[in-house]
Amino acid sequence: MQWNFQDIHNQVQAEAQAINSLQALEAFRLKYIGKKGIVAAVFASLGQAQPEDKAAIGKGANDLRRLVEGLITAKSTELASAKTQEERVDISLPGTSEALGHTHILTQTMQEIISVFEKMGFVTFETPEIETEFHNFTGLNIPIDHPSRDAFDTFYLDAPDPSALGRRLLLRSHTSPGQVRIMKQNKPPMAVIVPGRVYRPDAVDASHSFMFHQIEGLLVDEKVQFSQLKGLLTEFCRRFFGPKVSMRFRPHFFPFTEPSAEVDINAEILGIQRKKWLEILGCGMVNPKVFEAVGYPKGKYKGFAFGMGVERMAMLKYGINDIRLFYENDVRFLKQF
Ligand code: PHE
Repeated sequence: MQWNFQDIHNQVQAEAQAINSLQALEAFRLKYIGKKGIVAAVFASLGQAQPEDKAAIGKGANDLRRLVEGLITAKSTELASAKTQEERVDISLPGTSEALGHTHILTQTMQEIISVFEKMGFVTFETPEIETEFHNFTGLNIPIDHPSRDAFDTFYLDAPDPSALGRRLLLRSHTSPGQVRIMKQNKPPMAVIVPGRVYRPDAVDASHSFMFHQIEGLLVDEKVQFSQLKGLLTEFCRRFFGPKVSMRFRPHFFPFTEPSAEVDINAEILGIQRKKWLEILGCGMVNPKVFEAVGYPKGKYKGFAFGMGVERMAMLKYGINDIRLFYENDVRFLKQF
């Protein structure tokens, strides 16, 4: 049998070129160098070949096998790299990022308020949410069974007060008991703020909640004047709401301060309609009866105190018109701040 090696080489080259998958490569290998392949057939034909042709046929078979093996190696590298190309990670694609949480708008507001007062030299204290009648009322000159307690309607706990026979513990209805606790444990001069939750059995509506937040302020020293309280709160409102804020001090009554006032903010000027003046805090000069209750020497000290509603502050600053939004944990609301 005659072999035209040149034709076979040409055909091998052409076929190798067309290979585009591992299966095609395997078929190619079997066709040429498999057990029943062409190289084997060429070697098998040596038996019947003329003696003078044998050397050429043997060389042709070996050359062909080397050629095919070389092509298979080249082709399999090529196919492997094509595959990596396809599976390559495109590092230029924007990734899918996890949504990050952040502090609640009320926490942000409290931190903002606290930071204004801390820059003015106030120190932050936290006092208990579960209180005694003494700290929440009596020490603040709100006598037991006196009608002025109605203004601070209270949740009582089903737990006896270990410090007063026949009395029950309660959820503090304001942060003012913090004043009593701090004064009992410290000597003036002092300038403190007490942030935290307070509780009142109010029916929930757009402006009331059975739980809300207050920040109490207390400054005690030997010489303190109402004008300093006024100056401090005016500066605070400018820093918190911005320079265009408009506020008013309105005379009021609190048993634990004398004289007392409430501060209202002009909501219209801040761009909120609903009601023109919104009350944000109560304040006044510490009533001497409170100093007496905490055991300070008579007539030695003067002081002022204030207590502001955090929700009110946030509603005014951010134009929020319903207090319930703070507690519903609707992400569509929360993520706006
Ligand atoms: N505790 C008062 C309230 O909750 C606010 C207040 C605090 C008033 C301090 C005067 C002084 O309404």
